[in-house]
Amino acid sequence: MQVNAIAPGILAEEAKRLGALLVHYSTDYVFDGSKKSPYKEEDAPKPLSVYGRSKLEGEQAIAASKCRYLIFRTSWVYGSRGRNFLLTILKAAREKPELRVVDDQFGAPTSSSAIADATARVLPLRAAQGLYHMTAGGQTSWFGFAQTILRNAAISTPVLPIRSDQYPAKATRPRNSVLDNARLKQAFGVSLPGWESQLEQVMGQVLR
Ligand SMILES: NC(=O)c1ccc[n+]([C@@H]2O[C@H](COP(=O)([O-])OP(=O)(O)OC[C@H]3O[C@@H](n4cnc5c(N)ncnc54)[C@H](OP(=O)(O)O)[C@@H]3O)[C@@H](O)[C@H]2O)c1
Repeated sequence: MQVNAIAPGILAEEAKRLGALLVHYSTDYVFDGSKKSPYKEEDAPKPLSVYGRSKLEGEQAIAASKCRYLIFRTSWVYGSRGRNFLLTILKAAREKPELRVVDDQFGAPTSSSAIADATARVLPLRAAQGLYHMTAGGQTSWFGFAQTILRNAAISTPVLPIRSDQYPAKATRPRNSVLDNARLKQAFGVSLPGWESQLEQVMGQVLR
């Protein structure tokens, strides 16, 4: 709550005081995942987890400050460094005889570099502000994401699909995490590449 909800509010107040633009990243986890189609910015948030609630409060604190802000909601972020699903799956596939991965949560795996590129294209646009969804094109499940990672890496460890209730997790995650990026495209002419081409690009760096 301190980092995700209170701190963004303090940053926003300072941005307001200075006349600065605040760029903030939020998440698909502000939604409960019960919608049957991709979530739009105007859909009502209803977080299932404490994480989702804290991120939503951060968004609300920024909006309430009346500073100039860009909030980008993204999803399933990974990259060539740090701790993330791509690196976890590659490591697990080399250490375990088989992997079991959830196949009933859907979203768009989005690379941190694609988010950085898209943000850099929006920033120079004068008066850019507001709330935008910013995820890779297309969608898959965690199982589909894992399968594609292993195929790209030419690793033959079997991956088995499982349901969310077969995977021990402390927090409930939304079934449908897919976000509609039309507003970003309409406002700024910016759209991110499809998740598979982003993955190929990042894996080119990881496997080099
Ligand atoms: N991961 C996702 O799938 C996802 C999806 C949607 C939105 N987001 C949002 O994207 C943002 C980044 O998430 P992430 O998953 O990339 O997190 P992460 O991998 O944990 O990275 C967090 C980064 O923040 C830095 N950091 C943490 N506490 C700090 C502090 N007190 N002072 C300065 N730096 C600090 C960390 O520095 P060190 O490297 O030095 O520890 C790290 O570079 C979050 O706002 C998250 O809610 C993430």
